[in-house]
Amino acid sequence: AAGRPLKGRKAVVTAGPTFEPIDPVRGLTNRSSGKQGYAIAAALAELGAEVTLVSGPTALAAPTGVTRIDVESALEMQAATQSALPADIAVLSAAVADWRVDIIAGGKIKKGPGGPPTLALIENPDILAGVAAPGPNRPALVIGFAAETTDLEANARAKLSRKGCDWILGNDVSDDVFGSDGNAVLLVTADRTETWPRQSKTAIARAVAARIADHFKAPE
Ligand code: C5P
Repeated sequence: AAGRPLKGRKAVVTAGPTFEPIDPVRGLTNRSSGKQGYAIAAALAELGAEVTLVSGPTALAAPTGVTRIDVESALEMQAATQSALPADIAVLSAAVADWRVDIIAGGKIKKGPGGPPTLALIENPDILAGVAAPGPNRPALVIGFAAETTDLEANARAKLSRKGCDWILGNDVSDDVFGSDGNAVLLVTADRTETWPRQSKTAIARAVAARIADHFKAPE
């Protein structure tokens, strides 16, 4: 139907931060409200897609018609994302922690005369690069985000090729984005860059979903 151009398409969306445990009561995390990713999941569902939202810890309710899978760590997010494949569309918007603590303490680490603990960190897998890598499960359209404070377009374009994804939504996080209802993005594809005006995260999500629907109507 005209109003549901993504009917029959499957999408996986990641959103929110990840939480990397240090011990049973502490962890490392990133700043992300999850609002932009949740709005994209909702907008794709509104256009008829069957959406799995893999979400780190957020305060948000699952959008109507979306299947939410709750995860904490990057490793859990990666496993849940891979399990949601095959899909036609992947929009990976989560703020994944770059590192996790190598050895998670089984009990609460105590303060003491020995001073603060030293945390050994190891790198988390790049979920986006893994999903975008060539293979039978690669979604036809893989979209990532680039949150930058400087050189937005150059950094977004570099990320597009480094990660092997099809589109990057670049957003300038130097002012008033985290937790905010507004956002300003660039859409970077292999052959062009579009600068979108500042608008609500919901409006951006609807525009992204509409572009995705166009892409499947007339492949670029
Ligand atoms: O490399 P950077 O973290 O700046 O890339 C951001 C993009 O990559 C986002 O789309 C984010 O969801 C994704 N990403 C990921 N797994 C990581 C790191 C980033 O999926 N470990």
